[in-house]
Amino acid sequence: MSGGVTSFTVPRHALLDHRMAELRDATTPPAAFRRLLAEIGAILTVAATADLPATSRAVTTPLETIQHPVLAVAEPALVAILRAGLGLLEGAQRIMPAAPIGHIGMARNEHTLQPMEYMLRLPPDAAERGVILLDPMLATGGSAAAACTRLKQAGITSIRLLVVVAAPEGVATMAAAHPDVPVWAAALDRGLNAQGFIMPGLGDAGDRCFGTE
Ligand code: PRP
Repeated sequence: MSGGVTSFTVPRHALLDHRMAELRDATTPPAAFRRLLAEIGAILTVAATADLPATSRAVTTPLETIQHPVLAVAEPALVAILRAGLGLLEGAQRIMPAAPIGHIGMARNEHTLQPMEYMLRLPPDAAERGVILLDPMLATGGSAAAACTRLKQAGITSIRLLVVVAAPEGVATMAAAHPDVPVWAAALDRGLNAQGFIMPGLGDAGDRCFGTE
């Protein structure tokens, strides 16, 4: 990895591995694929938010009053990279239902593999809250890196990136371009093929989510 250091975490969990096997399976239809993405998104969100700053407050149970840990900050905003990030977003929202939502449209050119931004809508308090950025695939890393650049241009300095499948090339791109952005992935795969697909991967997450080609 050139240029910088980034925190890259693959949480080890039997339920996560089990869902990844189903998600990768080429015979899994779109409805099951979306459900699995949401469940994986929920598991990754739990892992990626474990270190949110905490304080304590008095809580009175039916029996006594205790000091109990609670969040010291507002929950981060959730920002999905379209389209496939929508699948992860659904799961992340189950864990943080009150978190504000943003969308960033990124389409990767199939030939040049360069990302093109086609929309950006962010919650007004995203800079104060920080952002959890969601995209199932970290292939070349171009889309995620461009999305992080746009978020930083919007004044957002705290970004956590959640992906399902990461290629070493994408992790290296993030380390070089955004070493301050920690990354969580459900799996680190072998690498990219000549067409820029992650191997063994799971195919095109957007197409498998929405049944397109
Ligand atoms: C895919 C994927 C990522 C991106 C990864 O999206 O969901 O956003 O490509 O590739 P990269 O790391 O090389 O940039 P795509 O552009 O196909 O859009 P879609 O989600 O609408 O299908």
